[in-house]
Order: sequence, then C-alpha cells, then structure tokens
Amino acid sequence: MARPEPSALVESLRAFGYSLPTAIADLVDNCISAAARNVWLRFEWDGAHSFIAIRDDGGGMTDVELVAAMRPGSKSPLEDRAPGDLGRFGLGLKTASFSQCRRLSVVTKTKDDPCVARCWDLDYINTAGEWRLLKKVNQHRLTGAGEEIAQQGTIILWEEMDRVTGSARTDDKSAYNRFLEAIEEVKEHLAMVFHRYLEKRGGINIFINGRQIGAWDPFLRGEKATQELPSEKLFCKGVHLTVTPYVLPHQSKLTQDRHRAAAGPQGWNAQQGFYIYRNERLLVPGDWLGLGFQKEEHHKLARIQIDLPNNMDDEWQIDVKKSRARPPGYLRAELKRIAKLTREQAVQIYRHRGKVIARKSSQDHVFLWQQKSRHGKYFYEINREHPLIQSSLREIGTDKIEPILRLLEETIPASHIIITSSEEPDRMSSPLEGAKYAEVRPLLQKIYDSFQKNGFSRDEIFDRLATMEPFSQNPEFIEAFREEPEGGI
Ligand SMILES: Nc1ncnc2c1ncn2[C@@H]1O[C@H](COP(=O)(O)OP(=O)(O)OP(=O)(O)O)[C@@H](O)[C@H]1O
Ligand SMILES: [Mg+2]
Repeated sequence: MARPEPSALVESLRAFGYSLPTAIADLVDNCISAAARNVWLRFEWDGAHSFIAIRDDGGGMTDVELVAAMRPGSKSPLEDRAPGDLGRFGLGLKTASFSQCRRLSVVTKTKDDPCVARCWDLDYINTAGEWRLLKKVNQHRLTGAGEEIAQQGTIILWEEMDRVTGSARTDDKSAYNRFLEAIEEVKEHLAMVFHRYLEKRGGINIFINGRQIGAWDPFLRGEKATQELPSEKLFCKGVHLTVTPYVLPHQSKLTQDRHRAAAGPQGWNAQQGFYIYRNERLLVPGDWLGLGFQKEEHHKLARIQIDLPNNMDDEWQIDVKKSRARPPGYLRAELKRIAKLTREQAVQIYRHRGKVIARKSSQDHVFLWQQKSRHGKYFYEINREHPLIQSSLREIGTDKIEPILRLLEETIPASHIIITSSEEPDRMSSPLEGAKYAEVRPLLQKIYDSFQKNGFSRDEIFDRLATMEPFSQNPEFIEAFREEPEGGI
C-alpha cells in the first residue's frame, strides 16, 4: 500500500493558505451544517499555551462519525449534500485547524450517545511517524473555561497555535495585543460571512468570549439612500440564479460612523464587486470575477449579490477554503453586462456627491432629453415641454426651431457616448462641469423671464429651476443667481 508519508502530508495540509478568520469561518460552517443555533468562540490568552475553542449546540457526532470526521477527505466532493449543508470536500475541519494549530481536539455528543473525544497531534505524528488518532484530550482546559456540552453539540479545541501566538511569553504585551487584534478581525469576518444567518429569525447566534456578534450587511438595506436595482435571473445548469445589484449611498448620505462601518473589513475600495453566496453563506466578499474590471475608487459604491445553491460547486470552481468562486464561461457575458450597468450607476452617485436638489419642491424633475421607445427600439427625444425649449418655440417660431431639434435628435452620437462612458467614465464631464457662472447666467435669465411672463412668482421660478436639467445638478448656480441684487428681476 502506498500510504502517504505522515510528516510530508501534514505540512501540505497546513499550506492551504487560510487566515485565522477564514479558518474559523470554515469551522462555523460545520456548526451550521450540524443545525446549531448557537456558536460560542472562546479565545484564551496564555502566551504559547493560548487556545481557541469553538463550541456549538448542533447535533453532535457518535464515536464512529467522529472518527470518520477526523479523517482527511472524510466525504467525497462528488457526493450529493443536503441543501443546507455548507461542506463539500471533507477537508475543512482538518485543513482549517492545521493551518493555525498543531493540536486539534474534538469533543462531541449527540442527544442519545455519550460524549466522545479524539485528537490529532501533529508533533506526535511527526515523531512517531504514524497517523494515530489519540483519545486523550485536554478536557480540563475546556471545563476550566466553562466550555461543556449539556445535551448535544461539539467543541473544537485548538492548542499549540504556532501560527497565531507562536512561542510568545504570557507577559509579552505586544503579542497579547496582536491576539486581541486577531479576535477583532475574526469578529468582523464572521459578521460579514454569516450576516444572513445572523440577521434572520431562527438563524444562529455567534458569541466571542461571551459577546454576541451583530451582522454586517454589505448592501446597507436599511438605508433609505441605498438603491436596489432590478434583480435578474440567469439560467445555469437547469436552475435560475438570482443576481441583485445594489448601489450604495453617497458618503454625504451616511453618518460618519455608518460610513466607516459600511466600508467592511477590507475597506471601501476592496469591497466593491460581486458578492457570491452559497446557500446563505458569503463566499466572495466583493470581486469583479476576472471579467476585465478593476477595483477603482469611483466604482466603490457598486456591490452585486449572486445566490448559488450548493450543487454548483464544480461549475463555479468553489475552493476548499470557500473563499473563491469563478463563474462558468457561458455566464460571463451576462455578468459583465450587469456589472457594467451597476458600475455606471455607481459612478453617477459617486460623482454627484449626493446633492439633494430641491427637496422642498413639489415639482417633478424636468429633463431635457427623454428616452422613448417605438416598435421595440429606443430613441432619444428633446423634451418640448422644457421651459427653455418652450419659450424658444414660442418666441422664434416652431417652424424655425423644430428642424434643429429634429436634426439634434437624429444625430445624437449614442454609440460614442456609450463607449466612452463605459471605458473612461472618469473622463466624461457632467452637466455644466467646469462652467463659469457668467456663461450660465444668460440661460438662467432666459428661463426666468419666460416663467415670469407666464405669471409665476419669484419663489415658484426658483423652485422650478432647482428641478430642471442642467441646473438641478448644480444648485450653486441657482444660489448665485438668487443672491444677485438684480437676480431675476
Ligand atoms: N461542529 C460539528 N458538528 C457536527 N458534525 C461535525 C462538526 N464539524 C464537523 N463535523 C462532521 O465532520 C465532517 C468533516 O468535516 P469537514 O469540515 O472536514 O468536511 P466537510 O464539512 O464535510 O466538507 P468541507 O471540506 O467542504 O468543509 C462533516 O462532514 C461533519 O459530518
Ligand atoms: Mg466543513
């Protein structure tokens, strides 16, 4: 038999590239798959003897199940899983644990069976040269820390955490501070990855050293200014995937604290892009999925949710760490289109600095250009009701103005605009950008005069100006006009 060399295999099991937060998230996956309602994490500082314990009140395991679970590759990735199961590879418990510690113990109990325990000790494997699953577990550390299983549940205990605390002395202040920072990172990561479970009724509660973790919603669904764009259904392997784009509020619409919290563990820029959920667990927290987009400051308000069931892991190339996913080739064009649309919308919000125009006004917005459709084709028309157009039609004459309007409408360089705005959105100027007041003033005056002729009061006219393109996005010009001693008179 060609048994793998224990010490060599151990080292490769340790090299999956987990961080402490992603490793712990992998264990919490297992708690959720075991139908736990509560997960208690305990971080105990004691220098090189520090430990982390993760306890849940899920279904637990029998002795036979525990021995199987401890085996690397305990289940085949090809096996079908229950819909709520977050596992796939039969590896997570082992790879996640060994990425952080040299001693992994599991204590577990089902409702009807006695408590059982097993331990993998990498130092033992290395020195003895054999894969022996030990029965001796440092139970006293758990009982001492108040970690006990009442009816049913499982405790995972990590000791000899060479990758977390190393050989630090207990009184090493800076090592202790790093330990505290690591706890904070774990907290933020779990709040993000499991936010849906934490939010929903009948979901789970997670506690770190006795304190409950709140959910972090990447889409700020509780904020009025968040825009949820229409969801789309994509057809993938016989099922519909739902894609829901969100554009987050401009900074000015959030309190400082909310804005800081909304950034997420990696910061505003890094957290833009697609958010891929498998079941309800977040796998990818913001990524443009190799679709050819960069993470840029002016697109940071774009976050797009994709929901996957757990039977598409192969199709989406889900990895053992559950932190990567790649869309199948045939979905790329559709995802790219959705990303483009969302990014464009996000730039708009980012640029306009969330200026609120004429919030007091009861008037509807007056646009100069309107999108229309005829026989299923779109075209753009100049709004004849726009006050400036109306007054020109009246004063100069419909027969003189109409042909010019038609000419403009028929020759609008739509395809150029589309290409430039999607490829170089930064270089598109917004209405009246860089314009001087002196250039804009005659326009304002003309509209003012025309309204006045029609019997509108001064206040009414300013109200209307504020909801009219192109001034609606540049309230400072309207203010300057209003403040002129002879303004509009
Ligand atoms: N907290 C737990 N409660 C009950 N059973 C558990 C728990 N943790 C692990 N198990 C059992 O151990 C098995 C192995 O877990 P492991 O994380 O190694 O693999 P997996 O979850 O099946 O797949 P993946 O590698 O994708 O995580 C699980 O399938 C489950 O049966
Ligand atoms: Mg698992």
